[in-house]
Amino acid sequence: MGNIIAIDGPAGAGKGVISKRLANEIGFDNFDTGALYRCVSLQMLRTNINLNNIDEIVKIAKEMNVVFKKDGEDESVFLDGEDVTKAIREDNVNSIVSEVSTIKELREQILIIQRELVKGKNIVVEGRDIGTCVFPNAKIKIYLDASLEERANRRYKENLEKGINTTYEETLELLRHRDKIDMTREVAPLRKADDAVVVDTTELTIDEVVDRIKEIVG
Ligand code: DC
Repeated sequence: MGNIIAIDGPAGAGKGVISKRLANEIGFDNFDTGALYRCVSLQMLRTNINLNNIDEIVKIAKEMNVVFKKDGEDESVFLDGEDVTKAIREDNVNSIVSEVSTIKELREQILIIQRELVKGKNIVVEGRDIGTCVFPNAKIKIYLDASLEERANRRYKENLEKGINTTYEETLELLRHRDKIDMTREVAPLRKADDAVVVDTTELTIDEVVDRIKEIVG
């Protein structure tokens, strides 16, 4: 078995960028598990499958082929051979993915995919339930957190850079809404694992967070 570093936390805490940077620096692979829920959501939008159609949603997850490709610091996500790196981050996906990820039967299927994908690898795995449910035996568990306002501020700036037109208030409300769904869902809600170390990123730079985690990894 390889070594797993589990990184969980709410949207906007910096999991994506930190995990990628950490993995690069310590020579591990990196696995963004949210991309799986995003690929299912994208496919649902494209094929007009709604949230109540659980059988079809599970079928999408069973049949989809998701491949992560690394090119230096950049990482791309391919869904059935198509580069969907950008498409899975767009607003239409953002607006349904939290709800999609509450579906128990879908989570069971995604669990299988996640466990399959890490086999034998030294890997940083980031998500919401990695330390609590997916890899409860991971040696290192980090819970990345930051204040809601700081997370909204980061997302708002990212959106501006990408040319996405939203206000700070809208961004904050969307995050608040996603936090609520992620933390209160019945199956595998977002919470800190008992043996996870909390790293609050509110006042830290990316480099400082990565260094802090490297200290914890030892
Ligand atoms: O990390 P992200 O924003 O790409 O995740 C998108 C959604 O997927 C998020 O709202 C919750 C869900 N998710 C999850 O439930 N479990 C995971 N391990 C990863 C993501």
